[in-house]
Amino acid sequence: VFHVTRLGSLAYLNDELLKLADAKLLREPVSQPPGALSFSSNDYLARAQALTEGARAGAGASRLLGGECREHLELEARLADWLGLESSLTFSSGYAANVGTIAALADPNDLIVSDELNHASLIDGARLSRARVVVTRHNDLAAVARALHGRAEDRAWVLVESYYSMDADGPDLRELRRVCDAAKAALLVDEAHALGVLGPGGRGRLAEADVTADVLVGTLGKAFGSQGAFVAGEKVLREWLFNRARSFVFSTGLAPSSAEAAIQSLEYLRASPDLPGLVRANADRLRAGLGSLVPAGTVLGFGHIVPVVLGEPERALAVSAHLLEHGLFVPAVRPPTVPAGTARLRFTVTAGHSEDDVDRALAAFGASLR
Ligand SMILES: Cc1ncc(COP(=O)(O)O)c(C=O)c1O
Repeated sequence: VFHVTRLGSLAYLNDELLKLADAKLLREPVSQPPGALSFSSNDYLARAQALTEGARAGAGASRLLGGECREHLELEARLADWLGLESSLTFSSGYAANVGTIAALADPNDLIVSDELNHASLIDGARLSRARVVVTRHNDLAAVARALHGRAEDRAWVLVESYYSMDADGPDLRELRRVCDAAKAALLVDEAHALGVLGPGGRGRLAEADVTADVLVGTLGKAFGSQGAFVAGEKVLREWLFNRARSFVFSTGLAPSSAEAAIQSLEYLRASPDLPGLVRANADRLRAGLGSLVPAGTVLGFGHIVPVVLGEPERALAVSAHLLEHGLFVPAVRPPTVPAGTARLRFTVTAGHSEDDVDRALAAFGASLR
């Protein structure tokens, strides 16, 4: 990993890269290995191959300067209707949605209470808002309540994900809503990994708990197999965001072709009420099988993401390499994505997997431990 640098000022990066390599923490972008069966995709409903005809490739401008397209408005109306909410607004990525939304809502006079495992986009949005941030232990609602009740600020925001993609768990949303209501705090729930698979008809964990968040964030790049994201809630939220969310105002509108692809995936999902349950059943089969192969407590969580904690990066890399030799793509997840000592394999189960695929993965995983 040594790169010759022509100008000296970036040469120090070579030393940093060597340190990462020594710790087995050096990473590089990977494409899906040809011929391998992937257990690594967030395309949970296997929609990414769907083609859209007729939609313009790009919006051509910010939505505020003429970039608004029929596809945006149609998708936003359909998403809101699907979720039973007043409105939604699309962004060009989930990262942009979270950063722009949080910074548009919270200000330096506010408190933000943020789960320690929140996605980087939630963290960066909180930083950009310059609100005071209290980070709470993962899924610890008593800690959220303490932070809210002990505050001096009038306004407070609680930021969580409904389904954490590295741990396959999430907070009790009904209880969290109660905690927020009791402390007059607003609740933002990022349903990025839940929508499409968890909850009734894949409508997410908020729908499952029958509670409403003040701000619901969803992505189009995962179960919808497209690109982009949306924020859903009351009409006033949508209007505020298209006035004040800088990642919306100062950025080209979501590509209409991506919006059209998301519309088609949404309609496909609405027309396939059994699909989310099938994905979950295959995941349950994988989780139970893996659970019988490794020590109790090392297969985490519930739902279509199945993390298996293996400990040190070397071990996770070795098992991942063994699986690839058997034609299965399950990349190792290492620090800093997960805490030190908890390197893991993270299987994601999609609608593209059959029961046989799951059994093949179990057999290969079992063999890798021998
Ligand atoms: C919880 C969560 N929020 C937001 C994002 C960002 O979404 P996007 O990939 O559309 O930028 C991701 C993953 O990428 C995520 O896991």
